[in-house]
Amino acid sequence: PTVIFQLPDGTQRKVTAESGTALMRAAVSNGVDGIVAECGGNASCATCHVYVDEQYTERVGPPTDVEEEMLDFTAAERRPTSRLSCQVPLSDALDGLVVHVPEEQV
Ligand code: FES
Repeated sequence: PTVIFQLPDGTQRKVTAESGTALMRAAVSNGVDGIVAECGGNASCATCHVYVDEQYTERVGPPTDVEEEMLDFTAAERRPTSRLSCQVPLSDALDGLVVHVPEEQV
């Protein structure tokens, strides 16, 4: 699937990754700015925070329990559309997904 990262400076990055790849991995392996991912994908740092575009929130689904707690520690404000990108596995159903990268991660 293809994912579009909207960056805080108004530009966007389009990346393609295999199904099953975490959204965070897709960002990091393509050098998308603003996804820090300090803990390497363990839902324990909150520096891979993204806002899922409203059009896709239903398809992406809600945060997991562990993620839910960690989302209280994001550097940028938490919103109803907040997710930790390491906890979002990509799939064909999410092809075209748009996420917004927050201003700050640490
Ligand atoms: Fe640390 Fe996602 S990479 S919480």
